[in-house]
Amino acid sequence: MLIELAPSVLSADFAHLADNVLAAIKGGATIVHLDVMDGHFVPNITFGPPIVKWMRPITDAIFDVHLMIENADRYIPDFAAAGANWISVHQEACVHLNCTLQLIEHHGCKPGVVINPATPVETLSEVLDMVNLVLVMSVNPGFGGQKFIRGALHKIANLARIRKERGLNFRIEVDGGIAHDTVADVVRAGAELLVAGSAVFDGHDITGNARNLLKAAQDAAPEVKRAGMKMV
Ligand code: DX5
Ligand code: ZN
Repeated sequence: MLIELAPSVLSADFAHLADNVLAAIKGGATIVHLDVMDGHFVPNITFGPPIVKWMRPITDAIFDVHLMIENADRYIPDFAAAGANWISVHQEACVHLNCTLQLIEHHGCKPGVVINPATPVETLSEVLDMVNLVLVMSVNPGFGGQKFIRGALHKIANLARIRKERGLNFRIEVDGGIAHDTVADVVRAGAELLVAGSAVFDGHDITGNARNLLKAAQDAAPEVKRAGMKMV
């Protein structure tokens, strides 16, 4: 199991976005999680493809774009062209989810699907063989710094069981309230891609925050591959 840390830039200081992201990467983060919100699907507005494009030259780390928007199909080509590597869409926001996942792949990105806290894992049964990752929301999407919803744990464990039973390869990501008091539980449940916003970017030591959170996650994992980790 390769545990990877994906800092969510939502909690970064946008006046120093590149420096903040590079500090997290210095602490071992290998994925940059980019939260895109439209003020319709979620009650907050963040940024669009230009931020992804401006950030692209600063690092080779994976850009993991989490779309919390309506009409995702309309924007997927622009996010792909801007430099996204992975694009994930919400099951709840996509009427033709199969088509949307194909569209992401068609534009050269790896598709992911996201479920809100109230959405059961069972709703994904027909797309699990199409996705690179399943993202389990452990807060209601829209804002950083919310309390972890523990119901995510059984959903993560359920996904890990289904993946094994069906011989599938998708990775399991978790997003929301991931910090020192929750990271061990989500890793033991089976999550391997850990999104963390406030736990990484709050305070003055972003590199130390990332390093310590990643170490706590790796210590909780039954078996861990450390390849690719840039530990400092
Ligand atoms: C919430 C976003 C998250 C958020 C996580 O809608 O998808 O990525 O930034 O923030 P924390 O880690 O502070 O809960
Ligand atoms: Zn997110």
